[in-house]
Amino acid sequence: MRVCQILIIVLYLFVVTNGALFRLESDFTRNKDNHEVWDLPSASDGKALIIRKGEPLSLNFCLRTASVVQVSDLRFSNGNKTDIVLVKIDDEAVGIFATPAAINHDWNAFMSTGRFPRRSFIDIGWHIIHVHFNGTADGIAIDYVEIDVDDNFMTSEILMCQLTCVPDVTFNLRPKDSSVGLSYAVQESYKTTCPEVDNVNVPIFNHFVKRYEITAALPQYRSFSNWRTENTSGCTHLSQFLWTFRDIELTNEMSGSIKSDKANVYFAKGIDKTSKLSIILIPQFELEGKSKGMIDSDIGSILRIKFSGMTGQTIIQMRYKGKGEIVSTENKILSPSLLEASWSIDDFSWTETDLNFLFLYVNSNSSLPLSIDTLSLERRPMLPEQVVTLYKSDNIIVEAIFVEFWWLAPDTMRLALSNGHSYNNVSYFRIYRPIPWNSGYAQVFVMYQDGNARLLPVPPEGVDWIPFGSSVIIGQANPTVVRPYAIIVDIQLDLQSLIMDVKYKDGGSAKLKLETSLTETRVIVYDIIFGENNLYPFATFRSMYVSEGNSDVDHVSVNGVQPRHIMDNFGSIMGNSFVFYRKCMSKHLNLSPDIYIDIRETEAAAHDLRRQIPDPDLFQILVERIQNNRQRLWTPRFRNWG
Ligand SMILES: *[C@@H]1O[C@H](CO)[C@@H](O)[C@H](O)[C@H]1NC(C)=O
Ligand SMILES: *[C@@H]1O[C@H](CO)[C@@H](O)[C@H](O)[C@H]1NC(C)=O
Ligand SMILES: *[C@@H]1O[C@H](CO)[C@@H](O)[C@H](O)[C@H]1NC(C)=O
Ligand SMILES: *[C@@H]1O[C@H](CO)[C@@H](O)[C@H](O)[C@H]1NC(C)=O
Ligand SMILES: *[C@@H]1O[C@H](CO)[C@@H](O)[C@H](O)[C@H]1NC(C)=O
Repeated sequence: MRVCQILIIVLYLFVVTNGALFRLESDFTRNKDNHEVWDLPSASDGKALIIRKGEPLSLNFCLRTASVVQVSDLRFSNGNKTDIVLVKIDDEAVGIFATPAAINHDWNAFMSTGRFPRRSFIDIGWHIIHVHFNGTADGIAIDYVEIDVDDNFMTSEILMCQLTCVPDVTFNLRPKDSSVGLSYAVQESYKTTCPEVDNVNVPIFNHFVKRYEITAALPQYRSFSNWRTENTSGCTHLSQFLWTFRDIELTNEMSGSIKSDKANVYFAKGIDKTSKLSIILIPQFELEGKSKGMIDSDIGSILRIKFSGMTGQTIIQMRYKGKGEIVSTENKILSPSLLEASWSIDDFSWTETDLNFLFLYVNSNSSLPLSIDTLSLERRPMLPEQVVTLYKSDNIIVEAIFVEFWWLAPDTMRLALSNGHSYNNVSYFRIYRPIPWNSGYAQVFVMYQDGNARLLPVPPEGVDWIPFGSSVIIGQANPTVVRPYAIIVDIQLDLQSLIMDVKYKDGGSAKLKLETSLTETRVIVYDIIFGENNLYPFATFRSMYVSEGNSDVDHVSVNGVQPRHIMDNFGSIMGNSFVFYRKCMSKHLNLSPDIYIDIRETEAAAHDLRRQIPDPDLFQILVERIQNNRQRLWTPRFRNWG
């Protein structure tokens, strides 16, 4: 009765206090090839694995961090003879149980051992649960083994060793002058379900910083996969549809309103007495704009209406009210052979600070009810990004990218090269360096007009390119807004030294020097002059964390030690070296780099600040400022974790 079809991997997860309970089905991967698998309807997935004398069962599992592990249940059945079964984790016995003498030879009558008494403290890494017996029983059917792991961040993929984690490392940081004063990294992250959102925000404050370095290096874990596709599941804001209504049946008697999650449509009586139907539809909606890091309230949109059917002529007049006065548009005439109409609404018509309205005056001689199939508003399509190669040599390629509707438009950036050419209206630019082991080039640095910088080491030999992940805003960005930015107005790039002279809109400036080695890419930021917002952070680390194994960062370590989980409610941490790294392999952009931020020089005053601690007056000002701003600006949905 051996089962040949592919068995489905079933793994149940129950969250309990202080940890999580995981069920390892015994009929899993290689186990089902090495043992008989019987169809037994009472087994949890209808199948159980048979172990015999000399054929022990071994189940692999992995831990993310040293944890207390306890076998909380082992579900089994047996045949005629009693036996003693020993359960071990690695080489250590964790429990022993006796199978009953006989239960009418019913293999389908499963029993549970319940919780084993022994709780083992087990190290991070790869472990094995062994189940075996030595006696004369004709076999024992194992349904599953359930283990309780004292680790709130554990996921089934990590437990099953599909994603592995490295032990805590002490980062070997380069020695530093003892006069470097402390900086403050502040937790400003929030939860998200969308892996393409920068929900991890850690602004770093130091009023007296003179020079710091940002370094990108490959993650600590060993993985030779190069997963680099984006994952937009859980990302509702990426849809081009701002709102949609379906199946609306129009009659003259309609009143009140209908709702969707993003809009309401109100109904009012029309005034045309000559048509069979005269009704006004008034969609009312909010749109997100710059303050939320979105372009929906600024970019133009398309309104579409589609009827399911129609027997007579229908005339629709559309007006809208956004930022300015009510705007009227031309009438659209629909008929049984033309059931759809659409209207384009110009860029910068809508508002993000108030409600927006559409007015649809529908007059029709069609028989009633008149059915609308869909009524929707969507963002207008954008032209593809325009990529222009500005410079190419044996040593470097510089490309400028022009985005048709940049989110901070109409603010723009000028990029001037040392060869005398300069370019306006650049949304971002990128620098390629030669790949030493082949004839290609690879992107190592990208700088956006909003201050966001991305760094990449050159790809390891054998790989054409690796993805960017985390980024750092270089420049003073308000830490309390959803999408922080430090607007750059002008950059001068020296094509030989790779030194960039950056000027910000707030009057600040800095020099950036790009360095690439075989293993890392570094930007040295120096000659920093703060602009008007001199209490803002000098840099802001940004990244993504959805869950363990689905993140671009999962830990931050300070001064080489003290690792903290990136979603830990750590408030603020002090130090002068911050490593933002991944302890666990991620399904998302797994070769995207860890980011090191090292403060290398501060003004003497920063040293005084360190002596003032724990009388942290400047820090207190910063914290109060952030909290006040947050109360004013942050809506609760951005702070729903902790
Ligand atoms: C169990 O015992 C019954 C009755 O003694 C016998 O018929 C059957 O063959 C035994 N089953 C096995 C698997 O040994
Ligand atoms: C089976 O035999 C081995 C070797 O003698 C012994 O180490 C092990 O504990 C025995 N297992 C059981 C369940 O008795
Ligand atoms: C994509 O992200 C979602 C979380 O929003 C996660 O559940 C899913 O497993 C991810 N898919 C892949 C292929 O990583
Ligand atoms: C409906 O028919 C009446 C009478 O023929 C006409 O005056 C009116 O304009 C028509 N309405 C529409 C929407 O075509
Ligand atoms: C910048 O580019 C956009 C899109 O191509 C264009 O609409 C805008 O007028 C340009 N602005 C300037 C200052 O050149």
